[in-house]
Amino acid sequence: MTTKPPISVAITGAAGQIAYSLLFRVASGAMFGEDVPVSLRLIEVEPAMRALEGVAMELDDCAFPLLAGVEMTSDLDVGFDGVNWAILVGAMPRKAGMERRDLLSVNGSIFGPQGRAIAKRASSDVRVFVVGNPCNTNSLIARHAAHELPPERFFAMTRLDQNRATTQLARAAGVAVSQVSNVAIWGNHSATQYPDFLNAKISGKPATEMISDHAWLRDGFITTVQKRGAAVIEARGASSAASAANGIIDSVRSIITPTNAGDCVSLIVPSKGEYGIPEGLQFGFPVSSDGESCQVVEGFELDDFARAKIAITTEELVGERAEVAELLK
Ligand code: NAD
Ligand code: LMR
Repeated sequence: MTTKPPISVAITGAAGQIAYSLLFRVASGAMFGEDVPVSLRLIEVEPAMRALEGVAMELDDCAFPLLAGVEMTSDLDVGFDGVNWAILVGAMPRKAGMERRDLLSVNGSIFGPQGRAIAKRASSDVRVFVVGNPCNTNSLIARHAAHELPPERFFAMTRLDQNRATTQLARAAGVAVSQVSNVAIWGNHSATQYPDFLNAKISGKPATEMISDHAWLRDGFITTVQKRGAAVIEARGASSAASAANGIIDSVRSIITPTNAGDCVSLIVPSKGEYGIPEGLQFGFPVSSDGESCQVVEGFELDDFARAKIAITTEELVGERAEVAELLK
């Protein structure tokens, strides 16, 4: 029997596809540990509240020993009141043929009010993890709206891309995924992201030593990871949900757990100008955690090829920031 105080977690879009894979794992202890109770604040828009009631019934029906409470609301001030974590999933997913940036006009306006409510109501230690697309720029909007909070509390997700890249590298090298480490995803969670094979390690050695097909690393590997979300939508008729939920669990665990020496995790965090990236962008970097706070890992080798790829994704994010300038005031 645990005696730890519950962690209070707000999850938006709680009646959606990703949430349906996420909530049950959070409630079972997969995110914060098997001795840490969680209290869930499930936030939805009004028309989805009936469906959310059904999800809450199913949570009841699991009798999770760690689930200390479930509240449902469409009121942001109630939903974020006192929470330690705000996981912002609720937003429209793209359909086949769209880029994630096409969602900015419809989804961008969601994140300002949420950022403001979090700044006003959440616990002083709150951390905000944005999933709804386009997640880099949505997290930028939320961060600006919550300017009272330290910028480093705002994250967004490139972990799904890291996991995709890890599997591709493991397959190409003929090893287990556990042998792959130090996989960085640079820049935007979009088709311009740069999955970094140069610094990746396989069985502790450079991936470029373990995989002889360098033409594939420079082309097929990168495009497979960049376009994997679209490939899932094409095949499934809906955007990734279970793998996205898994990426959220992995991300939060990697923020609260010290990173292994010589490894990194891929996270979107505020740029402080590392690697020449414009300050203030929410940018995908290799990051390490000491269990309390996260730092961008310095010293990654970037050759001309990598720099050119990173320049493309940086330019896209600068463009997205300009597109939402009105929402950043
Ligand atoms: P979904 O349509 O199944 O669910 C979204 C839910 O959000 C719906 O129930 C909707 O009612 C709710 N919602 C909409 N606006 C809201 C608001 N203002 N407040 C609270 N809830 C709101 O979509 P999904 O498949 O769960 O995907 C959610 C988002 O996550 C999409 O934008 C998708 O593109 C994105 N996504 C990101 C990643 C990533 O790696 N960053 C991966 C997968 C999906
Ligand atoms: C993904 O990477 O699977 C998500 O961002 C959904 C999408 O639109 O591709």
